[in-house]
Amino acid sequence: MFNVQYITFISNYKNIKLECSVVRKILGRTENTTDIWFTPKEIITKLGPFDLDPCTELERPWDTATRHFTKEDDGLNQKWIGTVWCNPPYGTQTKIWLEKMAQHNNGIALVFARTETKMFFDHVWPRARGVLFIEGRLRFCNKDGKPGKTNSGAPSVLIAYGNDALSKLESSNIPGKLIYL
Ligand SMILES: C[S@@+](CC[C@H](N)C(=O)[O-])C[C@H]1O[C@@H](n2cnc3c(N)ncnc32)[C@H](O)[C@@H]1O
Repeated sequence: MFNVQYITFISNYKNIKLECSVVRKILGRTENTTDIWFTPKEIITKLGPFDLDPCTELERPWDTATRHFTKEDDGLNQKWIGTVWCNPPYGTQTKIWLEKMAQHNNGIALVFARTETKMFFDHVWPRARGVLFIEGRLRFCNKDGKPGKTNSGAPSVLIAYGNDALSKLESSNIPGKLIYL
């Protein structure tokens, strides 16, 4: 019914489609897993001022604090002074940043609300003063300050370490649900 050329053509076409979808997935994963997403300015305006952002870029759309550390400074191993804003690198590194936030006990972290994880049970539930679950999903920004094309794809939570940080959450008017811990 089908000749050899036709079957060869269909088979090649399917292989090309498969390869394209693999390439798209790899490219998509690279794009979505970058750490270089910035906190929307209105969040900082509503919660600030902060003395230190220990993890950001030199090339950023706006300041998030008075002082900033970058990857080159290795903000994790610097001395943290004052009220800290911490939207850390996501993925497996996040827990180390929350651990340092808990030790420092003066500041606010913004992370995905992975409330069931060991990270939350170790460094949030027993050590933070409160959490504000943000209503809806944030759209983080590019280095030019424009919001990403899609939202973050997961719920976000603001975590207050220390009483001053809790007061900031209380008075922020950021839509969401504040839970006292
Ligand atoms: C999710 S972005 C948040 C940027 C900024 N804190 C903000 O709120 O807009 C995380 C940033 O942490 C930086 N980073 C990763 N490892 C770091 C390290 N060891 N020290 C300082 N910054 C680091 C990344 O390069 C990236 O810019």
